[in-house]
This record gives sequence, structure tokens and C-alpha cells, in this order.
Amino acid sequence: MELTEDEFTTQVMRHLFRSRGVDLSGYSQSFVFRCIRRRIGRSGHLAYPGYLKHLMKSEEETNELLNALSINVTEFFRDKSSWDAFVKAVLRPMIERKTAGGGLLRMWSAGCATGQETYTMAICVAEELEDIPGPERPMVTVLGTDISHQALVKAKSGVYEKDQVKGLSDRMLAKYFVPVGEGYEAKDIIKKRVRYVRENLLDVPTMKYFDIIVCRNVMIYFSRKMHEVVARNLFEALRQGGYLMLGKTETLLGAPRDSFDVVDLENRILKKK
Ligand SMILES: C[S@@+](CC[C@H](N)C(=O)[O-])C[C@H]1O[C@@H](n2cnc3c(N)ncnc32)[C@H](O)[C@@H]1O
Repeated sequence: MELTEDEFTTQVMRHLFRSRGVDLSGYSQSFVFRCIRRRIGRSGHLAYPGYLKHLMKSEEETNELLNALSINVTEFFRDKSSWDAFVKAVLRPMIERKTAGGGLLRMWSAGCATGQETYTMAICVAEELEDIPGPERPMVTVLGTDISHQALVKAKSGVYEKDQVKGLSDRMLAKYFVPVGEGYEAKDIIKKRVRYVRENLLDVPTMKYFDIIVCRNVMIYFSRKMHEVVARNLFEALRQGGYLMLGKTETLLGAPRDSFDVVDLENRILKKK
């Protein structure tokens, strides 16, 4: 079977969508192809059809390809426009509701890695609460969970090297971090709001009734079956009317998909019906 470069790239993208729910349609074909070419060189399958067959059979190669696409990195305010949309469509209205009605606002960063996402959420909260008089401010908690013990140790320390704080503006860095050694440490104003627990997303969640769950760039590494288990668990952990934000390339697979309304397709923001 002769495949052109474009046909081959399209078939690889289709495989990533079907097997992991990763939607790369917004990426340029040539960027995707360059990443695949790097993997082809390393995999030993030099012809397109051979590599495609290998990729479709191998979970490991699929993970390697996702890594090559740099989908595994984490950073503060990763995909900045999504966080802007998140604040406007989710956090601000939720804080307004809780301010008026009282009660606790519970947020969860599921698969938080080394904590940049969790602290991003805590910074967004701090910025939004700033203009609300102290006694009226709702209580807001942010839980960060990950399967990696090592990642959680770093997350809890709240200490990051210079090149790891690139996503933060100078203003935010000065406001929410203090310089330590060669890097920066999160200040108590954001650290105090955050709690970390080791948890496997494939297990039935021990904590529930979240108002907001952010689960970004985690399920892309899972088989479709695993993705569906995690999607079900996230659905169960969310309150009715609660929000779920996925990574920018992700799509929710499986039954829970119909139990959500799409709030913002581009930024993968969903609302539990
Ligand atoms: C690519 S990082 C995503 C970090 C962050 N959410 C972001 O988008 O920047 C994926 C994280 O998922 C975690 N992870 C993988 N499998 C998991 C599982 N079964 N349960 C919980 N966390 C898991 C990994 O340890 C890793 O820290």
C-alpha cells in the first residue's frame, strides 16, 4: 500500500483520536508529521505502512508519539486562552453564586503532575476573590491528585526552577512567589488553599461533590477502555451542574459524554447535566 505523507499523517491522527480521544485537527499537518518522523526513525519501522501497523498494535509506541508531540509537558497557565475562558465561563459565575448563596467551592485538579496546574487554579481564585470583601468571600479549596509520588513531592514543595515559571507573568510571579535559591517558591496565599493526595484515577474516587474538575492531558495516555473508566469516575465525582475542563486536544469518550452539555468546545469546557 502506497501512502502519501498527508494520507499517512491523517491515518495516524485518526488512530490517536479513536484510541485516546486526542483531537489534533487544530494542529498543522506538517507539525504532526515532523513529530511522527522523529518516532519513525527511532522505532525501526521505516516505511509508513509498517510504522502505522506497529503504532496501532502498541500502547507504548502510542505513548511515545504523544510524548514526541509534547503533550506531556505541564506548565503554569498552559494554553493561556483556555484559562481565560475558564475564569470567565466557570470560575467567576461559580464564585458569584457561592458568594450570594454561601457554601464551599470545591475544585479538583485530577492528574496535577508537579503542581503547576493546581497553583494556576489557586492563582485564578486569588485574583477573583480580591475584589470581594473579606467576610463575604466564599471558602474555596483546590485538591491536586496524581498517581506519581515523585511529582506530588515537588507539587507540595511549591518550588520551581526559573525555566518552569515561564507561563507566569512578571506581575503574577512577584505577587504569588518568593525567590528561593535559583528559583521561586509559591507563597502561602496560594499554597494554603491547595492540598495534595496520591490517587489513581482508575479507582473509584474517594472524594466527591466537586463543583469544578480540571483533568487535562491525562486521559490521552490511556487506552479507550481506561479513558471510559476515568470519564465515569470524574462524572461520579462531580456535582450536578458542575464543570469539567479537559485538555485543549481532548474529547470525552464513552457513556458519560451524553451526560454533559458543551459550554465551550474550543476550550473543552463541559457542564454536568
Ligand atoms: C501530562 S501530565 C498533565 C499535567 C497537567 N494536568 C497539565 O495538563 O499540565 C499527566 C499526569 O497524569 C498522571 N497520571 C497518569 N496516569 C494516572 C492515573 N491513572 N491516575 C492519576 N494520575 C495519572 C501522570 O503521573 C502525570 O503527572
